[in-house]
Amino acid sequence: MRYLITGGAGFIGSHLADALIERGDEVTILDDLSTGNHHNIEHLIGHPKVEFFAGSVLDTALVRKIVPTVDHILHLAAAVGVFTIVDKPLESLITNLRGTEVILEAASEFKKPLFLASTSEVYGKNGGDALSENSDRVLGSPLVARWSYSEAKAIDESMAYFYFAERKLPVRIARFFNTVGPRQVGHYGMVVPRFVAAALEGEALQVFGDGEQSRCFCHVLDAVSAILLIIDSDKTLGEVFNIGNNEEITIKQLAEKVIATLNSSSAIARKEYEDAYGAGFEDMQRRVPNISKIESVLGWRPTRSLETIITDIAQTMGE
Ligand SMILES: NC(=O)c1ccc[n+]([C@@H]2O[C@H](COP(=O)([O-])OP(=O)(O)OC[C@H]3O[C@@H](n4cnc5c(N)ncnc54)[C@H](O)[C@@H]3O)[C@@H](O)[C@H]2O)c1
Repeated sequence: MRYLITGGAGFIGSHLADALIERGDEVTILDDLSTGNHHNIEHLIGHPKVEFFAGSVLDTALVRKIVPTVDHILHLAAAVGVFTIVDKPLESLITNLRGTEVILEAASEFKKPLFLASTSEVYGKNGGDALSENSDRVLGSPLVARWSYSEAKAIDESMAYFYFAERKLPVRIARFFNTVGPRQVGHYGMVVPRFVAAALEGEALQVFGDGEQSRCFCHVLDAVSAILLIIDSDKTLGEVFNIGNNEEITIKQLAEKVIATLNSSSAIARKEYEDAYGAGFEDMQRRVPNISKIESVLGWRPTRSLETIITDIAQTMGE
């Protein structure tokens, strides 16, 4: 099988490319290297089963040239990261709405199955105990940049789903909760690589707000094994699955764990949300996935601990 991975030079996409090549598949990567990095796929360039296009999913002609040459599309390209979304809300919306539309149109025209990478952000500020795929979305004003990512990804899901329901396009959707691991960069808002980098440098770990907000972190290799199970199964057609780890930790405890795991001399500092993201920034207090659907349909559970995640990120940082 030849898979097109849009966003394949990114964090999750590059690990997914590795896993597909490892099992004998062929991979075409389309990435504009906006948040992705050539370094992530350097080892794949020149591989006989890998093709790389530096370009955008907004380039309809390029997408229509590539799609007929592949068997299956894995659409991961997106404007991601809280800093990116808050800094460039309009550009992010265009990438996340129009980009997905271009990919869906080509998938439908050339009849290629499509996997869509969505996000736990679609649940917005629903702070429920364990968010299941049917949980309600709780959002602030559409004029708040923070929520525009959630809105765009939710529309992406709806569009993909109705291509499935009305046009019989084989579509599968996954909502990633915080996914972390080697190759993720901290500078556009990801907390674990940001903390690990600070701990390795002996600099203070900056906790935003009171640090009592909690999150769950899933190792990228666990997430990739979930994606493979989803795309390989017929039971997942027209379905959406949460992918995440359901072990909850507060951001303050996370900072302490990073310092302890890496034997760092760093201190913990506090920063107000407004100073980090600008005035009026809203965040959710909890974000915990219910993963019983993917567990019961596909038998998937994450297997890697937070200590493993921290150690793996630290080992590869600076490579
Ligand atoms: N990492 C997470 O915790 C997480 C959580 C929820 C959802 N997701 C979703 O998973 C997917 C992958 O995210 P990631 O964490 O690997 O981030 P990433 O930034 O590393 O990957 C996104 C990739 O898309 C590329 N890209 C952006 N705009 C593009 C365009 N117009 N054309 C082509 N390529 C473009 C970027 O260069 C990058 O390589 C995204 O769709 C994201 O919304 C990730």
